[in-house]
Amino acid sequence: MTWHIIGAGSMGCLWTAQFLKANMKPVLLLREQRLRSLESDAPSLSIDELDGTTHHYPIQLASPETVTTPIDRLLVCTKAQDAEAAVHSIEDKLSDHCQILLMQNGMGSQQAIAHHFRSQSVWAASTTEGAWIKDFLHVCHAGHGSTWIGPIGRTPDEQAWKNLKHSLESLPFDIHFTDQIEQKLWDKLAVNCAINGLAALYDCKNGELLATQERKERLAALTREVTHVRKAVGIKTTGDLFELVQQVCRDTAMNNSSTCMDARQNRRTELAYINGFLIEQAKKLGIETPENHFLMKELAELGIQ
Ligand code: PAF
Repeated sequence: MTWHIIGAGSMGCLWTAQFLKANMKPVLLLREQRLRSLESDAPSLSIDELDGTTHHYPIQLASPETVTTPIDRLLVCTKAQDAEAAVHSIEDKLSDHCQILLMQNGMGSQQAIAHHFRSQSVWAASTTEGAWIKDFLHVCHAGHGSTWIGPIGRTPDEQAWKNLKHSLESLPFDIHFTDQIEQKLWDKLAVNCAINGLAALYDCKNGELLATQERKERLAALTREVTHVRKAVGIKTTGDLFELVQQVCRDTAMNNSSTCMDARQNRRTELAYINGFLIEQAKKLGIETPENHFLMKELAELGIQ
């Protein structure tokens, strides 16, 4: 029942901590160079819990080069732009029946991985759990949420569903399984298309996007374009996406979006898999997305890509 986790950011560390709590002995994969640079030969993972307590767990670390056993369960928690390369870096260690669970913002990377890894079962997740990295291997659980998981690409057989459910059932998380994961990914895409780029542009907290009429109108216009493209792709819309976007702004009012943080640290953002993905889909369908185009142009002018 061993899960290997690739990506030691906030989600990777948060999920690894849940596997540790459930006594499932996960293995966290790091880059070879990072692994070698560690001074401790008894590393631990720390988590600040929502109740204010901090727990430390001894953790097994490895790198794609040093991991020996065939991997049967792989959780991918890298940024969207790193996901394909991360899974390829470990390709020769994956068993044929490996369950690959992808937890990226945006869309496009999940489909590309599902297309390549046809003998394995590929699943995508969409989560509203909140976490941030305090330090290397030290995560802060910032808010309880829910996680939806469903197959992407080829439909897995019943046994694969059973195995996946069984391997996640003892985690202390609110997990839902669905055969409509694309709907959930599109919901999250609407939230990310509206919030992430704008928050990076204005260099502000998510809640501050509701602070002026101009910002609210931009949020609404971006969301309208996602709704339009989503409909044309054939994804059912349940509920009002703009209401969802505003709710996320309120729920995460004091947070900086991941894109805003990437921009501040001059890191490449996930925008190509968020607004970029939307623009690409719209183009294929002959739909105009001027608000998303304009936002990407403004961000590019600031050197945010
Ligand atoms: O990318 C993010 O930061 C998050 O997905 C969200 C929901 C926008 C909250 O900050």
